[in-house]
Amino acid sequence: MSERETWTTRVGFIFAAVGSAVGLGNIWSFPFQTGSNGGAAFLLIYLLAVFLIGFPAMMMEFVIGRGSSMNPISAFEKLGYGNWSVAGALGVFTSIVTLAFYSVVGGWVISYIAGSLTGAYFGDAGTFFGAVSAGPTSVLTHALFMAITIGIVAFGIQNGIEKATKVMIPAIIVLLVGLAAWGATLDGAAAGYEYYLSPDFGYLAANFASIVPSAVGQAFFTLSLGFSVMVAYASYLGRDDSLPADGGAIVVVNTLVALLAGFVVFPVLFAIGAEPGSGGLGAAFVSLAGAFGQIPGGSILGFVFFIILLLAALSSSISLLETPTSYVVDNYDYSRKQVATGLGALVWAVGIPTALSTNTLGWYNAVVFNLLLPVVVLLFAVFVGWVASDLSADEIGRGTTLDAGFATTWLWWVRIVIPVAIGLTLVLGIQSLLIRAGVLEAAVILG
Ligand code: PFF
Repeated sequence: MSERETWTTRVGFIFAAVGSAVGLGNIWSFPFQTGSNGGAAFLLIYLLAVFLIGFPAMMMEFVIGRGSSMNPISAFEKLGYGNWSVAGALGVFTSIVTLAFYSVVGGWVISYIAGSLTGAYFGDAGTFFGAVSAGPTSVLTHALFMAITIGIVAFGIQNGIEKATKVMIPAIIVLLVGLAAWGATLDGAAAGYEYYLSPDFGYLAANFASIVPSAVGQAFFTLSLGFSVMVAYASYLGRDDSLPADGGAIVVVNTLVALLAGFVVFPVLFAIGAEPGSGGLGAAFVSLAGAFGQIPGGSILGFVFFIILLLAALSSSISLLETPTSYVVDNYDYSRKQVATGLGALVWAVGIPTALSTNTLGWYNAVVFNLLLPVVVLLFAVFVGWVASDLSADEIGRGTTLDAGFATTWLWWVRIVIPVAIGLTLVLGIQSLLIRAGVLEAAVILG
């Protein structure tokens, strides 16, 4: 067993956790979920989900991680509840499944960066997407993306993850602000902002049952909750840091990046008269890339956009690989490099079916989003709120000046509000999986 590293500074931890949170989920999935769920109506519910459910749920993972200073599987044993290792292991399993297809989408981004330089997608973004998203090219770019991820994780916490994210996060923010400023000059800007920012309450009321689970699922995904990743990252954290303060900073920065992405995407889509909710990850690549092809200066801006997307995807993928890696490194006598390479290769193999078919990729995504994430977060909530509540209350207060009332309120929130919200999400999520499988008819569902 090797000596465990810790973050060099508290800011190092915050950057790495923000890096995990900020990813394809913010820049890609958030604008398109917003677009397909009625614009500002979704945004409103999403923000509530992030702050009322996501933020307190992040504290749950932090408490388990820092309380044990162990990887997410061994953590529960260390805390004296060995049976609950299953919850951590399910989170790690979710990380592996997610990374398998996340890396495929990361590979698409690499193709789009190349395509921005050669102009390959400007004429017909749909055909380009078809060529790079499923088949040999996709298997190859998936391998490339995975190789970069392995490279960073192999260098470890301080030299790999911390250094990489400290460069990536500011770069992402600066570039996005630049793109948003450019978006403001487009003809579609006013209409885009209107759609994005002024909620249609009639739409919200009529679609509440479908908006809520999407918003809660998106909140978990974007904050990297339910993957045990925040358990792993908090396990490298010092005793004296304030978990609520760090978590607050992470949630705020993550939300700002998503909001900024909306300020880029909506003006662009409205400028070319594209349907904002053209739906699905694939369609999203097509419509936005198509827009870059039609707008003056779009090729350079498309290039910048996809570079941002790649940085964001990498700063997330390293956290997904770090979680299983930390478990093996903590428990077995292999070097970090060996473990990262071995696991990375395994994940690559698991992802191959999704690199060959976007339909399969959609399935992996749906199972993670609708089933695995809510189940893992629910297990964590029961553990933190009911099973190990004394320890949790103790740990959340450590390093803060907050009074005991804060810990008590949080604990009750974790005991009641989060499980109820997740229960609802889970029911609706399972329904939507059954619809996808053709077992249920869409009309019966979702009110
Ligand atoms: N939060 C990332 C995103 O929004 O793209 C996705 C993700 C990364 C989830 C890492 C989980 C994780 F461990």
